[in-house]
Amino acid sequence: MATTTKKKSSAKKAAKAANNAVHTNGVRMHISDGIPPKKAKGTFSEVPGKYCVRDISLADEGRKLIQWAESRMPVLMYLREKYRKSQPLKGLRLAGSLHVTKETAVLVETFAALGAEVSWSGCNPLSTNDAVAAALAKAGISIFAWYGNHEDFYWCIERTIDLRPNLTLDDGCDLINTVHEQYADFARKEIIGGTEETTTGVQRLRARAAAGKLYYPVYAVNDAITKWDFDNVYGTGQSTLDGILRATSVMIAGKNFVVAGHGHCGQGVAKRAKGMGANVIITEVKATAAIKAVLEGYRVMPMDEAAKEGDIFCTATGVKDIIRKRHFLAMKDGAIVCNTGHYDAEINLQELAEITKNKRTIRENCEEYTLKNGKKIFVLAEGRLVNLAAAEGHPSEVMDMSFSNQLMCHLKLAQAYKEGKKLPNQVLHIEPEQDEFIAETKLKTMGIAIDKLTKEQLEYINDYTAGT
Ligand SMILES: NC(=O)c1ccc[n+]([C@@H]2O[C@H](COP(=O)([O-])OP(=O)(O)OC[C@H]3O[C@@H](n4cnc5c(N)ncnc54)[C@H](O)[C@@H]3O)[C@@H](O)[C@H]2O)c1
Repeated sequence: MATTTKKKSSAKKAAKAANNAVHTNGVRMHISDGIPPKKAKGTFSEVPGKYCVRDISLADEGRKLIQWAESRMPVLMYLREKYRKSQPLKGLRLAGSLHVTKETAVLVETFAALGAEVSWSGCNPLSTNDAVAAALAKAGISIFAWYGNHEDFYWCIERTIDLRPNLTLDDGCDLINTVHEQYADFARKEIIGGTEETTTGVQRLRARAAAGKLYYPVYAVNDAITKWDFDNVYGTGQSTLDGILRATSVMIAGKNFVVAGHGHCGQGVAKRAKGMGANVIITEVKATAAIKAVLEGYRVMPMDEAAKEGDIFCTATGVKDIIRKRHFLAMKDGAIVCNTGHYDAEINLQELAEITKNKRTIRENCEEYTLKNGKKIFVLAEGRLVNLAAAEGHPSEVMDMSFSNQLMCHLKLAQAYKEGKKLPNQVLHIEPEQDEFIAETKLKTMGIAIDKLTKEQLEYINDYTAGT
């Protein structure tokens, strides 16, 4: 029986775990000889080896939410029906680690409808919808996830690995990292491939591939146009404002709203904050992104300056330590601080704690820090992505395209496997044809027609002699 490490393990710990592992035919077995206990106290609905959710009696509530999402995800539902009969994922086992929302449930049930055996965990301690998790468990999906899962985050991921997956689906690389660091033999020999949903996860994958430590091919779903330019921009934009409002109910109009990072997510957040009447300030490290912000009419300045001016701060960089002690000390009394980047590393809460004399919860997802200098700072959702922790994540309509990309990539991995093709152990790009197909299908479902290039126009584009 391998040890179950619930924290990110160092290489040393992983090596120790490897020594303790049972081997069968050279492949490490983690499964079969019992499941170690989880740490969390409280009541759970649990069938060992099958599911562990907060309360299975929430299943009917969750089912209605899933049906709501299904009715707004026509591309994914079309793909589900298109492939239901041919069962292209039959015989494959898929482990996923991605926010357990109603939209994710539609994806999970699509995988199952196409023949895959699925096991799922959340990818953030605060993003699981307990009703949705209960509905999936009741429908027979193996799932280990609950809201507020701080202690057993990696325990849940390990339970999904018990399925011995040959496909993985990640949002932020926690599953891939666990498989690679603790089950390297298994990853090399049994996993066909995987997908990664978010920008930070893709960055981690590229670093892993560059170090020669990626043991199977992984599609960078995030980088599809029909994902990155829509989900991250419009999805994060709307849902982040939604999260801030649910956690605070403050008026946005007239506030100085600081957005750190003017990339995809930051652009979306800034657009929506501006639309609600905020004065947007952008901080950046990339000159081109900063110029875009200037031309949008925002003020651009370093965080040291913005810290003094902001009423609301939202980080969207994917980089750590964006807001630190000196920034907190410079902030106005009553400033609101939150993050919408993948990890909770963007706001340095440890440094905030060092200058805090008192902390209390004001309302759900809103904590008041009274600093030793007497000022108050309000931190939302523990510095975790505010749109999922305090609201419901992205709207179904935009996740329709992201998750259609996820499904199509897994279909490709399955097809390559069945045809005996070995894809390289690299970060794989999404082909333009996939983006075109998803965008065209999405437009059709929206009842929107567009023009087609004529034969003459095509010839004109390709005519290198054409000029003034
Ligand atoms: N909340 C959500 O639901 C959600 C959805 C998608 C992505 N994400 C996450 O949001 C983060 C951003 O993703 P993205 O797609 O916008 O990435 P991106 O690469 O498009 O944009 C990030 C921007 O941050 C800037 N930046 C980097 N370091 C900075 C610093 N120190 N100060 C100011 N700006 C800095 C970069 O120059 C870049 O312009 C990632 O962690 C991603 O995984 C969250």
